[in-house]
Amino acid sequence: MQTIHSITELQAVLGNERAANKRIAFVPTMGNLHEGHIQLIHQANRNADITVASIFVNPLQFGENEDLDAYPRTLQSDQEKLSAADCDYLFAPKMEDMYPNGQVIQTLVEVPGISQLHCGISRPIHFRGVATVVCKLFGIVRPDVAIFGEKDFQQLMVIRRMTEDLFLPVEIQGAPIARAESGLALSSRNGYLSEQEMEIAPTLNRTIRETVAQVISGNHDYSQLEESAQQQLEEAGFKRDYFNICRRHDLQPAQPEDKELVLVAAAYLGKARLIDNMVIDL
Ligand code: PAF
Repeated sequence: MQTIHSITELQAVLGNERAANKRIAFVPTMGNLHEGHIQLIHQANRNADITVASIFVNPLQFGENEDLDAYPRTLQSDQEKLSAADCDYLFAPKMEDMYPNGQVIQTLVEVPGISQLHCGISRPIHFRGVATVVCKLFGIVRPDVAIFGEKDFQQLMVIRRMTEDLFLPVEIQGAPIARAESGLALSSRNGYLSEQEMEIAPTLNRTIRETVAQVISGNHDYSQLEESAQQQLEEAGFKRDYFNICRRHDLQPAQPEDKELVLVAAAYLGKARLIDNMVIDL
């Protein structure tokens, strides 16, 4: 695997691959890679001739009191993992190349509506930062296909909408959530959890599964189910963010007659903010 830091060098190398009729898959990440990321690389390998991963901790998607400075930077071990997973190129750009005019004087990509819900309430600038950097990365890499984890269900929807609205010539694929045996969704932020919090963390997924089971068995009092799940999580030691049963196509609150749903949830545990979700077909 070749690691490339410069935008022009990456573009030259990928230009040659494209000229040789190679189909290019892209997996954008912020590094600190875990098995979930590696599964994205495997999916990319199955879907294209060339796999490009990126590692860039994007400041634009972190709010003022969030974990930008603490976010783990582990380039060397990430390179080893990507190489072992048969990734072809790692693009690890410098901040000043991604934001040559600084972060304030910067064209922004805003995906209205969906970006303001759920995660967008506690993280109001987050999806604008994500959409902006993904759009820039798509412009640099020009992939045929890009793979994103379904753990970030709302992010995946924001990226699909952006790609559609801006007619970007890239296929967006979601990849199933990778989980620990306990059910805990794998996340770089799990590294913030203490040993004791690690024991508590799977309660989020368990509560989601129990709630989904109730929905499937015919309980459509969604507000009551959401509130009782929030209370269960608080009793286990979490602080509330959101726990919402939604329509899958627009992430608006589900109505009893809706059939295609998704339960999206986020909760704070110690220094970590954990998110998870589960789709429901009635
Ligand atoms: O999901 C992530 O790791 C990030 O939000 C992404 C898509 C790499 C953009 O910075």
